[in-house]
Amino acid sequence: MDLFSPVTLGELELANRVAMAPLTRMRSGSSGVPGDLVVEHYAQRAGVGLIVTEGTYPNHESQAFVGQPGIVTDEQVAGWRRVADAVHARGGRVVVQVMHGGRVTHPDTNGGRRVVAPSAIAIDGQARTSTGKHPYPVPHALTTGEVRDVVRDFARAAERAVEAGLDGVEIHGANGYLLHEFLAPSSNVRDDEYGGSPENRARLVAEVVTAVADAIGAGRVGLRISPEHGIQDALEPDRADVLATYGSLLDRLRPLGLAYLSVLHRDPAGDLVQELRRRSGVPLMANSGFASVTTREEALALIEAAHADVVAVGRAVIANPDLVERWAGEHPENEIRSHLFYAAGAEGYTDYPALRAG
Ligand SMILES: Cc1cc2nc3c(=O)[nH]c(=O)nc-3n(C[C@H](O)[C@H](O)[C@H](O)COP(=O)(O)O)c2cc1C
Repeated sequence: MDLFSPVTLGELELANRVAMAPLTRMRSGSSGVPGDLVVEHYAQRAGVGLIVTEGTYPNHESQAFVGQPGIVTDEQVAGWRRVADAVHARGGRVVVQVMHGGRVTHPDTNGGRRVVAPSAIAIDGQARTSTGKHPYPVPHALTTGEVRDVVRDFARAAERAVEAGLDGVEIHGANGYLLHEFLAPSSNVRDDEYGGSPENRARLVAEVVTAVADAIGAGRVGLRISPEHGIQDALEPDRADVLATYGSLLDRLRPLGLAYLSVLHRDPAGDLVQELRRRSGVPLMANSGFASVTTREEALALIEAAHADVVAVGRAVIANPDLVERWAGEHPENEIRSHLFYAAGAEGYTDYPALRAG
């Protein structure tokens, strides 16, 4: 298989197998509306096979970052319509990553609202808020009824994404945010049907993805997971438990026929990821995580060995708006300026040069 060959994921037809990984950039202001700069940023990167947008909140209390975009208000939906139109005008495809921040937030970030999680266990660390760094608060443990409201809010966000003309959604079940908090035993000590056994811990994610698929069609829905990532105190130290939990989840989702499963794991070719891929029965989008920047060689190898159907590429796409063209032609890459990942404005965002002007 060739990294530069087309591939179909459910209803999503991709021109190549390089996806832009979801990348939080915090440039949507206090209204959470993607504006001119955000539109330009994504339009510049339309040459990847699929853009997965930055994590975007489905209700206000789930906002995890200052300047994060939402997909709740009419103004936010209108902003996403501009992104969709600009990417489509350049022949690209774009899905929005729907992300509930769970306990990885603070009232000074989410507008003074509650901070919620499966259980009332705080992260041991500091939240970056609009008023500086503060310890993460002890979250409110969602009641069983409130868990069902979360399912509804994800489905509603997916409907709004389609209304905005986006090609679909990716559900963020990774990296220690709300859905991952339910999956991981360290952050979920509930005793209702959403906690305890691996099947119960997988229940919310299964219900969210099923509701979203019912709302917009499974062929436009992807799911991102990061088993064993060990981030933000969502710890999964026991391989057997991980297999039982994610296996149960993917067995439940298999009949839906999702567009893709995206897995962040340090060893995409290894037993765990390949077993989860088989269990899911759908195309695999792989990413080996934060430890080292995804390279052209790594991406080529994953596809050539058929260890993945698509590779999600993060930091190299930040620095190279025309990454696919560069990788195809073996051209040099721009230097990544990581200190500007979460800065304001165009610098480090829309000012990375393309090989060819225009
Ligand atoms: C600045 C930055 C923001 C990120 N934001 C998100 C996000 O919103 N959602 C998500 O699932 N992953 C997020 N990630 C993880 C990336 O999608 C990706 O997994 C990571 O960068 C490793 O891939 P790479 O080596 O190709 O950069 C982020 C990573 C970085 C560097």
